[in-house]
Order: sequence, then C-alpha cells, then structure tokens
Amino acid sequence: MQLQHRMFQRRVGRYLEKLCIENEIERHTKISREHLTPELQLHLLTPDCPLYTARETQIPRYFREPFWSIYWPGGQVLARYILDEGSRFLRGLSAAKVLDVGAGCGAAAIAAKIAGADDVLANDIDKVACVAAIKNAKLNGVKIRTSTNDLIGRELPENFDFVLIGDLLYDEIIATRLEDWLEKYVSNTENPLTEIYVADPGRHGLSDTLRRRLVHRRTYRLPKNVCRENYGYNEAAVWKYLPRS
Ligand SMILES: C[S@@+](CC[C@H](N)C(=O)[O-])C[C@H]1O[C@@H](n2cnc3c(N)ncnc32)[C@H](O)[C@@H]1O
Repeated sequence: MQLQHRMFQRRVGRYLEKLCIENEIERHTKISREHLTPELQLHLLTPDCPLYTARETQIPRYFREPFWSIYWPGGQVLARYILDEGSRFLRGLSAAKVLDVGAGCGAAAIAAKIAGADDVLANDIDKVACVAAIKNAKLNGVKIRTSTNDLIGRELPENFDFVLIGDLLYDEIIATRLEDWLEKYVSNTENPLTEIYVADPGRHGLSDTLRRRLVHRRTYRLPKNVCRENYGYNEAAVWKYLPRS
C-alpha cells in the first residue's frame, strides 16, 4: 500500500510539474511562424518576448537552459527538407518510424509526422523540451511521442527507419559522442535501411571525419531574422550519413 501510495504521489507530482512547465511556456514564449517553415506554428522565445533580453536573475526556473525555445538553423533546414520532400522523404514506407535526437522544440519530428510518418519519437534530455515538443505538435494538429533518455552512446531501444539530427554539433563533446555513436550503433541497427540525416549551419563540431561520411542533400538560405539571431550563419545544409560498408 505504501509503495502504491508513493507511486501515486510521484505520478501526481510529475503531472503537476508538466502543467507548470506548460504554463511557463505559454507565459514566456510567442507562437511564431517567423522561420524557414512558416507552415509550422511553434512556441518560441523570440526577440520581442521580454525574457529574450532578461537578466540572469530574472530568468524563471524552466528557462535556465532554454535550448528548446530557439528553433536552430539545423532544425529549420531539416524540417524544411522533410516538408519539401513530403511522402518521398519516407521512401513510401507505410508505417515509418522516426527518431529525432536532440529534438528541442520538436519541429523536425513534427515535420516527419506531417510528411506521413506513422510513429515519431522526439528525444531530448531536457524534460522541458519534451513538454514543448508535445505542445508544439498539438498546435500543429499531430501527435508525437517523447523520451528524455540519453540515447547517444547506446544501442537504440527500438528500430527506426529514420534518425534525424538537427543542430547537435554545437559543442565538441557532444559532437564527438555523436560521431562515435553513429559509427557504432545507429548504422549497425537491426534495420539495415535506417536512414540518418544530419543538418547543420557549419558549426565547429562538424569534423572532417564526420564530413567525409556525409552526402550533401540540400542547402537552404535562412530568413533574415534567423541570420540576425544566429550571429552570421546565413545558410545551413542537410546531409545524409553514410555508414561504412
Ligand atoms: C542546439 S539544440 C537543437 C534543437 C533542435 N534539433 C533544433 O535544431 O532546433 C540541441 C538540443 O539537444 C538537446 N541535447 C543535448 N544533449 C542531448 C543528448 N545527449 N540527447 C538528446 N538531446 C540532447 C538539448 O537539450 C537541446 O534541446
């Protein structure tokens, strides 16, 4: 009975925290279409949100590391590519499963669902990102799953037909972990047809070794406001990762 009670309390606690996060997202972000995929509405922290220029002491708890509240150039071009390709992106698979690693606001995951994927998992170690991704999916009329597990470095828990990686090369530690992981596990999944897409504006984590494994798919110019907010990046590219054969 005690155990059941504790489990119930934990569930209620998680539910209340989710409500709190949702509330904070609504309070401090703006629903925006001012990006490369204007067909998607996203809760984002834009320059006209008071929090965008707030001092550190004024930042509420769930916005301390708000990577999810920015729609990064890599994520923007990846979602654009998926929306442009539509059902072609899914190679005609009738029940495509997609994993978006480091999903942030969830835009690429949402784009995959709109393109017709059957099952989309948005993965981000930040629980606030996962709440934001679900909220953004609802805003766009689709349903996705989320997971806060750190999958990088592990065998994938499920088989995916597509793995999406948008703007995860921003830091050398994560870029190195990601490169090893792609090499060891993701390209060795039980599903030999898994396609891996990497999108990036040219960050320093994009090493020469990784670049040699990437086949260029498309480069997009970023809208003016996105360039301004991203310190000079004015384009970003989508690549397909080719496993060693
Ligand atoms: C630069 S943002 C990119 C977000 C999104 N893909 C986009 O392009 O807009 C990187 C995201 O990766 C998440 N992240 C960092 N390390 C991670 C890991 N090991 N597994 C999953 N997500 C991770 C961060 O929390 C953050 O939301």
